[in-house]
Amino acid sequence: MARLVVVSNRVAVPNRNASESAGGLAVVVRPTLKRHSGVWFGWSGRVVAKSQPAVRTIERGHQSYILTDLTNEDYDEFYNGFANRVLWPIFHYRLDIAEFSRRDLRGYMRVNEHFATELHKILLPDDVIWVHDYHLIPLAGILRDLGRQNKIGFFHHVPFPPPEIVAAIPNHEHLIPAMCHYDLIGFQTDCDATNFARYLKDECGLLNRDPSSFRAGDRTVQIGVFAVGVETSELNRLARRAVHSSFVRGVVESLAGRDMIIGVDRLDYSKGIALRMDAFDRFLSIHPVWRGKVTYLQITPKSRSEIREYADMERQIDETAGRVNGMYGEASWTPIRYVNRTHSRTALAGLYRSARAALVTPLRDGMNIVAKEYVACQDSENPGVLILSRFAGAAAECTAALIVNPYDADSVAAAIERALSMPLDERRSRNNALFATLVAHDVKNWGDRFLDALTRPQKLPNWLSWMRAKNSRTPALRRNAEKQWAAD
Ligand code: G6P
Repeated sequence: MARLVVVSNRVAVPNRNASESAGGLAVVVRPTLKRHSGVWFGWSGRVVAKSQPAVRTIERGHQSYILTDLTNEDYDEFYNGFANRVLWPIFHYRLDIAEFSRRDLRGYMRVNEHFATELHKILLPDDVIWVHDYHLIPLAGILRDLGRQNKIGFFHHVPFPPPEIVAAIPNHEHLIPAMCHYDLIGFQTDCDATNFARYLKDECGLLNRDPSSFRAGDRTVQIGVFAVGVETSELNRLARRAVHSSFVRGVVESLAGRDMIIGVDRLDYSKGIALRMDAFDRFLSIHPVWRGKVTYLQITPKSRSEIREYADMERQIDETAGRVNGMYGEASWTPIRYVNRTHSRTALAGLYRSARAALVTPLRDGMNIVAKEYVACQDSENPGVLILSRFAGAAAECTAALIVNPYDADSVAAAIERALSMPLDERRSRNNALFATLVAHDVKNWGDRFLDALTRPQKLPNWLSWMRAKNSRTPALRRNAEKQWAAD
C-alpha cells in the first residue's frame, strides 16, 4: 500500500507520557500504523500563545509524527468548546448538557482548516489518508477544496445517534453532509451506521443504490461497520507476565484474600461511574454476606477538567465513593478504592487478570476498549467475568458477557452477585466464547479491513443485509451471516 497518513487530534508518540493518557483512539491506531510506513499528524498536546504555535516532526523508525501546537484560543473554542461541549455530549445522546456558541464553531472550523493546510504541505498524490474522530469531521471537505484527490477515510469512534438527535447540533446541515467528501466512513456498530444512513436519507435527501453506498453530487461515499478490536494475543501474553510484577503482587497482597472487581474509565459522564458505585452499594445492601469479602477498585484518570460537567461529575463521584465507604467500610476493609492516577498498560493488564470481575457499565459508548482488554487479559483456566452495559458498542460482539442496563441498579447488583458466585465451568465457557471472538476480530483485523475497503471499495460488504440476516429468525440465514462475517 502507498504511504498511510493518519490524522487525529491526539497523537501517541512512542516513549512519551502523553501516550499513556491518550484514550482508546490512540491505543487502536498505534498498532495499525506500526505495520505501515507513514505519518501520524495531530495536536502536540501543547497550548501556546497566539504568536507561537509551531509544527514539528519527530522521526521514530519508519514513522514520522507531525505535531502542531494549539493556541489558547484554539484550545478553548475547538477542543473544550465545539468538540467537547457540543459534539461529544450530543453524540453520546446528552442533549441536556450540550452548550453551543458561534465562537466555538468558528474555532472548530479554524483548527480544521489549520490541520488541512499543514497536511496539504506534506501530502503526496498517492497517500492514503485515514482521519479519526469527531474533532475532524470537516477535514476531507477542506482538503478537497485545496484540490486533494487522495483516498480519504474517516472512522467515527463514538456513537452516531438517530437523526432526530444529530439535528440538535447547531450547523449540522453543513457539518454532517460534508462527511460525504470522505470515500469511506467507518462506524463501530450496525446501529451507528444505520443512524448515519438514515440521516443522509431523511435530512439530506440523498439516494443510495445499496445501504453501504450513497451518491452525493459527483461523489460516492461508502459506509461500513468496523468494530474496533484490541491486541488480543499480545495482551494475554503481557498479562501473564504482569501478574508477577511487584506492583500487581503488592495490590493482590493488600486485598488479603478478598475478591477484586475492577473498573477502568477516563473520568467522563458517559461512563456512568457514579451510577455504578450506587449499584455496588445496592449489591452490598442486598447481599450482606459479601461485605468484607470483595473490594471494588475503580481507576479513573481525570480528563477535560476545564469543562464544568466534568468538574461537577468529579465531585459527585468523590461523594458517592465516600458515602459507600462510610456506610459499609471497616477499619480493615475499604469497599471502594477510588484512584485517579494513570496506570501503565502493563500494570492494567496484570490488574485485569487478577480481578474476579470487571464492571464496564457506560451509559453510552462507541465501543469500550476496556471491556475487550479485560477479556484478552484473562487466564483461560480461571477467568474472571465481564459485566457489560448494553449501551457499549462492545455488547454487540461480547454476547457471552453478563449484559446489564446501567440505569437499573438492581440488575447491575444482581450481575455482580452472579459474577462472584459463578461456577468455574460457566466462567470458562463464557471466557472461551469471548476470547475466540476477540482473536478473530482483533485490532489488526480492524485496521486491515478498513484500509482494504478504503483502497479497494468494491470489496465492502453490504452490512445492512448482513445485519438483517444475523438477527433473522431463520437459523440458516443466521449461519450464513456468521460465515460472511468471518470471511469479511
Ligand atoms: C475518546 C475519544 C478520543 C479521545 C479520547 C481521550 O476515546 O474518542 O478522540 O482522544 O477519548 O479524550 P481527550 O479529550 O483527552 O483526547
